[in-house]
Amino acid sequence: MAKKTALITGASSGIGLAIANMLGSEGYSLTVAARRPEKLEAAAAGLREQGYEVLAVAADMQSEDDIKRVVDAHRAEYGRLDVLINNAGVGVGAPVGDYTTKSIDMQMDVNFRAIVLFYRETVDLLRAAAAENKTALVVNTSSISGKFGQGWLSVYSATKHAVVGFTQAMNKELSGEGIKSTALCPAFVDTPMTDFAKGQVPADEMITPDDIAAGVRMLIHQSPACIVPEIIFQRPGEDL
Ligand SMILES: NC(=O)c1ccc[n+]([C@@H]2O[C@H](COP(=O)([O-])OP(=O)(O)OC[C@H]3O[C@@H](n4cnc5c(N)ncnc54)[C@H](OP(=O)(O)O)[C@@H]3O)[C@@H](O)[C@H]2O)c1
Repeated sequence: MAKKTALITGASSGIGLAIANMLGSEGYSLTVAARRPEKLEAAAAGLREQGYEVLAVAADMQSEDDIKRVVDAHRAEYGRLDVLINNAGVGVGAPVGDYTTKSIDMQMDVNFRAIVLFYRETVDLLRAAAAENKTALVVNTSSISGKFGQGWLSVYSATKHAVVGFTQAMNKELSGEGIKSTALCPAFVDTPMTDFAKGQVPADEMITPDDIAAGVRMLIHQSPACIVPEIIFQRPGEDL
């Protein structure tokens, strides 16, 4: 059988990079995508140093053309897709009266619309993998704020609720064909995204990116008979 492959968005840092490292260690050939080319290339170089096969494609998840370009590049390089990790995301905090239209659109496009487009563009590859192995996996990074609405992060919160709902819908629509979907719902993870909060919550009290990658490692080892619709990652003592 051809080597299994994974496509990971938002793979240049934080959670996405930890998942890419884990999937490389599990023998997957990787396509990694993120917005800023230099940061992505540095991450890809680190992955290649581990001995992993890596295709890096810089792309803005707000752009439909860029998303198609990522999938086309992955298809041309590997010809198959076993695991899709829809992880790129952005959060802009503001009171509702202060939200700019630009920041609303950006969060809706990157956090949610891009996920729909990635399913649409890859579903034939996922179907082929599921037909061959009885299973293909899509992991969508939501958030704990995709389970409980949060003030000041209201738009982010709403986009992450959409990710949970869409993941449920994809399981209804595609899991009978072997394409399983899981939403990841973490509380604070120690990544660049939470630098704004590190005055209140020390980094060493946050969930680690490797904790999240460990959850995804569990998913790739499960039998085709098992679906995990979502995983909530909480911090000890935290009120939800
Ligand atoms: N950290 C947390 O506490 C936490 C909790 C719950 C959920 N999450 C979610 O976890 C995911 C990963 O975040 P993280 O914490 O690992 O943060 P991070 O280290 O800042 O990573 C975010 C990734 O997304 C990419 N990205 C952002 N906007 C993009 C765009 N327009 N086009 C393409 N790529 C884009 C970034 O690339 P560039 O840097 O080049 O833009 C980067 O690779 C996000 O969906 C986030 O909402 C995080």
